[in-house]
Amino acid sequence: MILIVDFGSQTAHLIGRRLRQLGIEYRYIDPETVMSEVKAHQPTGLILSGSPAFVTNETRIDIDSKIYDLGIPILGICYGWQLMADQLGGTVSGAYREYGPEKLLVKKAKLGLKAQNYQVIMSHGSSVTKLPAGFSVVGQTEQGEHAMAMNPTKKWYGVQFHPEADHTEGGLELLADFALKECGETAQPLDLNPEHLIAELKQQLGDTAQVLCAVSGGVDSTVAAFLLGKAIGKRLVPVYVESGLMREGTVERVKAIFTKQVKASLVVIDARKEFMTALKGVTDPEQKRKAIGKLYVELFQKEAAKHPAVEYLGQGTIYSDVIESKGSKHASQIKSHHNVGGLPKDMKLKLIEPLRSFYKDEVRELGRRAGLPEELVMEQPFPGPGYAIRVRGEVTPERLAQVKQADQIVIEEITAAGLYDKVFQCFAIMSGAMSTAVKGDERVFAEVVAIRAYESNDIMTSQWAHLPHQVLERLSRRIVNEVPQVSRVVYDITTKPPATMEWE
Ligand code: XMP
Repeated sequence: MILIVDFGSQTAHLIGRRLRQLGIEYRYIDPETVMSEVKAHQPTGLILSGSPAFVTNETRIDIDSKIYDLGIPILGICYGWQLMADQLGGTVSGAYREYGPEKLLVKKAKLGLKAQNYQVIMSHGSSVTKLPAGFSVVGQTEQGEHAMAMNPTKKWYGVQFHPEADHTEGGLELLADFALKECGETAQPLDLNPEHLIAELKQQLGDTAQVLCAVSGGVDSTVAAFLLGKAIGKRLVPVYVESGLMREGTVERVKAIFTKQVKASLVVIDARKEFMTALKGVTDPEQKRKAIGKLYVELFQKEAAKHPAVEYLGQGTIYSDVIESKGSKHASQIKSHHNVGGLPKDMKLKLIEPLRSFYKDEVRELGRRAGLPEELVMEQPFPGPGYAIRVRGEVTPERLAQVKQADQIVIEEITAAGLYDKVFQCFAIMSGAMSTAVKGDERVFAEVVAIRAYESNDIMTSQWAHLPHQVLERLSRRIVNEVPQVSRVVYDITTKPPATMEWE
């Protein structure tokens, strides 16, 4: 087993995800308890993750330096590398920062990488400026002399970039080499057999418990409900809340899915008015998410009261939702996903979330293997709070109607160009920025619509889609012409990191 010391980086959980993909056993631990965990688990190696903390100021999170006496390989990633360098006598300073993709020049083939250029993902505000004794440089970036270094005698490695990020070329090979060759681990393939999950659910829920399952028509909640349906049959009560914040036609789609695929009768709660009231005057994105989450749960609890045998609330929460809503001790909170951060403390229902430890692509694979049709498992994700987080500032009925119309145009045009399946998500945003336009000889001061389209596998990193200019041109022309009160259209060309996918 490899122990991953979690210092709280947003991508720390991807380290385990990659090891899982490689079939290598791992366990996350906190830096504070490293030596007792080492004693308990006898790992073959340690990986020190990145962190929102800085080695050089009061946010620093330390680790017992006895780890350097264990005689096992250590890989430090980003903050992990800086901490290791500092503890071993090197120097860390705020000399330069790199956020997003950078070119890494590997000078000597090592850790599964060849002596060539790789595009790697960086996200750091300080760096190693002097190597500790015994270390030599393996690779560098334009600014970063010590982007990759090693002490071959001790099998200690440091990388400033994130090999766990999907958009780091050679990242998986690097982790595989560290785990298999340096640590001597052996690979066991990942179990994505839905039958095993169904059996676990059956056991957990017993013979009588009923589950009220929140569904949105998206991949996650549909796969979760499908697995629950297979485990408990008619004891599953799927509920769809019509918030008015979802894409046009969603209710019809959800009804069709539940009648045909899950074979459960769907309860639809029409709460469009309640949602608009709850969002009135709310401009802060976190407040929006909380208001929406709170209303959802209230509606579910009200519905649950009509089904006295219901003990559980089923949700399609997946691993990235949990992580982004503060999944580990040192992680800083990016946003509270409504299904994680919005749940009240006094909730009467117990939670059941069959997909809580799976990533999007694994959820798709589970759904596919369980028998859901391809177009359903490949559906683009749509956020739970829906268009509310795509209208920056207050969600008024007018702006909600505008974003829906603009979004429909984005989907139509990207689908017509044969690109819908090639991008992870594509959508329109009411940016909140106002600018001038001249429409029919009249000067108008109206809102700027932004378009975001990008490629991603695991949600944590993404590259903006290089859409053909003709497609962008059609999108722009149609949106300014067809959507009222829009002055111009801009295309977002920012990678994640640093930018998140949604604007709020
Ligand atoms: P970000 O903006 O964090 O988005 O890069 C990552 C993925 O999560 C979706 N997203 C949400 N989904 N509730 C959800 O159910 C939320 O509050 C939320 N915020 C973002 C987003 O659409 C993307 O797929």
